[in-house]
Amino acid sequence: MEAAARFCSACGHAVVATQTEERRVVTVLFGDIVGFTALAELLDPEQVKRLIEGAFERLVDDVTAFGGRVDKLLGDGILALFGAPVAHEDDAERAVRAGLRMQQTLAELVAASSPDHALQMRIGINTGEVLVGTLAGTDYTAMGDVVNTASRLQAEAPPGGVLVGEATFALTADVIEYGAPTELQPRGREHSITTWLAVDTLVPPGARQRRTDLRLVGRDGELALARAALGLAMRDRRSLLLNVVGESGVGKSRLIDELLGTLDDIGFGSATVLEGSCAPYGEANVWSPVAMALVSHLGLDPSLSADDVRSRANAKAELLLQAESSAREAASATEVFLHLLGYESDLDRLEPPARRDLVNRIVARVIELRCEKTPLILWIDDLHWADPVVIDVLRHLVSTINRQPFVLVTSMRPGIDVVWPPADDQSTHPRR
Ligand SMILES: Nc1ncnc2c1ncn2[C@@H]1O[C@H](COP(=O)(O)OP(=O)(O)OP(=O)(O)O)[C@@H](O)[C@H]1O
Ligand SMILES: [Mg+2]
Repeated sequence: MEAAARFCSACGHAVVATQTEERRVVTVLFGDIVGFTALAELLDPEQVKRLIEGAFERLVDDVTAFGGRVDKLLGDGILALFGAPVAHEDDAERAVRAGLRMQQTLAELVAASSPDHALQMRIGINTGEVLVGTLAGTDYTAMGDVVNTASRLQAEAPPGGVLVGEATFALTADVIEYGAPTELQPRGREHSITTWLAVDTLVPPGARQRRTDLRLVGRDGELALARAALGLAMRDRRSLLLNVVGESGVGKSRLIDELLGTLDDIGFGSATVLEGSCAPYGEANVWSPVAMALVSHLGLDPSLSADDVRSRANAKAELLLQAESSAREAASATEVFLHLLGYESDLDRLEPPARRDLVNRIVARVIELRCEKTPLILWIDDLHWADPVVIDVLRHLVSTINRQPFVLVTSMRPGIDVVWPPADDQSTHPRR
């Protein structure tokens, strides 16, 4: 069909220009490399090109992992949109998390590849209504005051910092830790703008800070039922699956917090509680919920070097499996721990089914042996966001551990494509 045609040459229908622009609330992230000019003076142009290209590849991955879209790469700068063309309920939060992650990525990259060069980035983030679309025949982009302000925020951010505007702050203050507000008077503007420097994340993606200053109300029945089931499982050394289902904000996590926080009252203060939660985005390690639960238990810190993790994982594997198992099984357990924590391991060389079987077997074995000493409670929150491999290992735990004081507590939102609980289990499911 001719570009200027008014009718389709195949079917004769009138050609209607599709709407190419619309107003939308988006969060705009601007990032700009600091020290680029100095770097260009110090290094060969090829080296600079390699360094910058390598960095941007990783930074673009960060934006995408958090559900944003890179709108433009501008030499040593990056413009990303969160909320267009695809919108999420928490785009502002995703943008700030992505900004913090990008700073971390760049710092790691510089430390690993060119520690002598102070390559840093300023990031500015702003939320508001913009005009998005293929404006004036350009590629998909955003325009408006919000975009300009994001660019100003970027220019005012300290190197290595993420500076946000008022609307972004208001939407994310519960989940991001910020420094004190600072007034900015941008040149050529009548009004000053208030800005905040993002310091850290307060909770993982998808998690909410739960208010515990207010007493739990109206859950006596659910709590009594859950406590009775838990007590029975521990006293009779029987495994139990407690699956709490309910819409977002109804109080699933709070109920479980309350239950596990009062184990002493029902005489099970000696139980070990391991916790992990599933994230909706931004988590590269699909095993993260299981890894989170194991990390504290194994005394492993993800910031340790791979060699340190390997030797500690090995010591822990030998201790956990002890005389019960062969040296070969302890070695497999070490590799499984490394794999779960996202490190390279022998499991990388296995086919997915074999890898899954090995993880399932070792995780079940470790939990089983652990339960012989004290009761063990594994709580995996927000299962609706779990990767299938996590569902699979939990299903394996439920079907293989029977005669042990093992309680698996899960929570999930209804109507989501996750088959849970497994059809053939014999568990108790208080629902709400
Ligand atoms: N029965 C209750 N009494 C007092 N406060 C409650 C009660 N239930 C929930 N809350 C409070 O409501 C807020 C939301 O609860 P919670 O985070 O447990 O919801 P959720 O069901 O886990 O939601 P999501 O699916 O988003 O994880 C929390 O601050 C929690 O402390
Ligand atoms: Mg919850």
